[in-house]
Amino acid sequence: MALPDHPHASAGASALSQPAAAPAVALGGLDITFHLEGGQRYQAVTGIDLSVTAGEFVSVVGPTGCGKSTLLNAAAGLLTPSSGTVTIFGEALSGLNRRAGYLFQADALMPWKTALDNVKVALEPMGVSDAEADKRARDWLARVGLRAFVDRYPHMLSGGQRKRVALAQVLIRNPEILLMD
Ligand SMILES: Nc1ncnc2c1ncn2[C@@H]1O[C@H](COP(=O)(O)OP(=O)(O)O)[C@@H](O)[C@H]1O
Ligand SMILES: [Mg+2]
Repeated sequence: MALPDHPHASAGASALSQPAAAPAVALGGLDITFHLEGGQRYQAVTGIDLSVTAGEFVSVVGPTGCGKSTLLNAAAGLLTPSSGTVTIFGEALSGLNRRAGYLFQADALMPWKTALDNVKVALEPMGVSDAEADKRARDWLARVGLRAFVDRYPHMLSGGQRKRVALAQVLIRNPEILLMD
């Protein structure tokens, strides 16, 4: 860490006086096995160790079926690993990861709601007034290039436009961790 304004501070000294911040997401020895019909099992991921610090951007690259979505589902708290640990900012994850926003691989918009209402709904649990939610949702839709499409239903949007609505839906909540499949 460079501290140009403080000539007497050194990276070594600050490292000694301050404990290292816990990673935003840490996966340790993660195994995930799916139970199939007929008693069969399928081990989707084995022995995954991954640590992502705050401010870091990490891409997981691999062929179809190698377990990328499975790992994200575990980090989001949507599935419980068969063994290993999921730690979020130093705390063992139990249940949904409420510090993360998750952009799903599959379309997850509500088909009966317009783009605007799909984005507004993300603020519902946060107790934001309807007028404020409307304003913020319009702002986010404009930021993802959909100012002219706020009143469209998902089936009236292209695949890429639907993805951008979903992105606005995640970003409007200002999550500390962004999981993007
Ligand atoms: N619910 C499930 N039940 C059984 N097998 C699953 C389930 N979800 C995923 N799998 C299998 O686990 C592997 C990893 O899937 P996934 O994480 O979706 O892969 P990808 O890297 O393409 O995102 C695949 O072989 C898939 O068939
Ligand atoms: Mg996938």
